[in-house]
Amino acid sequence: MKTIIRKIDNLYSDHKFIEEAAGILQRGGLVAFPTETVYGLGANGLSAEACRKIYEAKGRPGDNPLILHIGDIEGLYEIAEEITPTAKKIIDKFWPGPLTMIFKKRPCVPDNVTGGLDTVGVRFPSNEIARELIRLAKVPVAAPSANSSGKPSPTRASHVQFDLDGKIDMILDGGAADFGLESTIVDATGGKAVILRPGAVTKEMLEGLLGYAEIDPAVLKKPDKNIIPKAPGMKYTHYSPKASVILVKGEMGKVVEEINRRAKEKQRDGLKIGVLATDETKALYKADIVLSAGSRNDEVSIGANLFKILRKFDYLDADIVFSEVFSEKGEGLAIMNRLKKAAGYNYIEV
Ligand code: TXA
Ligand code: MG
Repeated sequence: MKTIIRKIDNLYSDHKFIEEAAGILQRGGLVAFPTETVYGLGANGLSAEACRKIYEAKGRPGDNPLILHIGDIEGLYEIAEEITPTAKKIIDKFWPGPLTMIFKKRPCVPDNVTGGLDTVGVRFPSNEIARELIRLAKVPVAAPSANSSGKPSPTRASHVQFDLDGKIDMILDGGAADFGLESTIVDATGGKAVILRPGAVTKEMLEGLLGYAEIDPAVLKKPDKNIIPKAPGMKYTHYSPKASVILVKGEMGKVVEEINRRAKEKQRDGLKIGVLATDETKALYKADIVLSAGSRNDEVSIGANLFKILRKFDYLDADIVFSEVFSEKGEGLAIMNRLKKAAGYNYIEV
């Protein structure tokens, strides 16, 4: 199949392209679209057959449920029920925005959307292109991240094209995603708010609203038979570039020294070495590819750049990537969660 690519510079003058995309969704096709977190791969979320195509295009395991995107708040009540007071409080504050909530599902939600669970993940994005697309499609839009399964999520249309060209009907190019990390997932079905996946709606923000927030243990530690993530997708550790990623933790001067020493050693073995650095340290490394994720003091820009940089190491054929680590406060928890997965929890402490 030929994948049509439409650039949306202006919501009004390019409206015809969003209408075209909505038509594709209504006819059961696949459209990748921008959101404020990462690009999503959309299909009619009430059609099992359309959703089946998502799993096929991404090569996604069938036990990893999709989330449904709504274009206005009324859409929630068509697909979800038993909205707890805690959940209501959270969505009133953070929707539309980078937050997915887990609810008890209504019968109209197909089994292959939820991977057989009796709950469904729902997200109300703030990105205007995404919202207009969903409103015009007139159905909830099932959309996982628009990457091939196992690759970092796409934060630009070019990333989607690289992974899925020829496998999907259309890509709407709305420029770079603002946050660059997937939405925070919160489960408040039991009355208490539990973070299943950290994102730009942070633990601290939820604590500010509720006075507390719990974190699923699998967010902080490597999942194993005792720590089974509540979000099925969080059990996959191969969330990573082709290169082996190794995190190096410790006092900054020592980290730089250790990475340079190991880089030199590995280069002697003929390997191509990358370093994921920051603006503050970039000039200090001697390696084949040194990329800065931004200033250490600006976690928002590090979050926005992380997946783009992981993809770039792949593109430049790095064999090993040494990475600095970041604070786990605020959005840092999401950044470190994704980095640890990319590294397969591979750590060196100096
Ligand atoms: O920011 C995002 O959330 C992006 C954009 C496109 O909206 N979407 C996204 O979808 O990241 P995906 O499929 O890549 O990640 C959704 C995660 C998966 O880890 C999945 O296992 C989990 O949500 N999930 C889906 N339904 C669930 C449910 N009923 N209970 C627990 N976890 C669920
Ligand atoms: Mg994903």
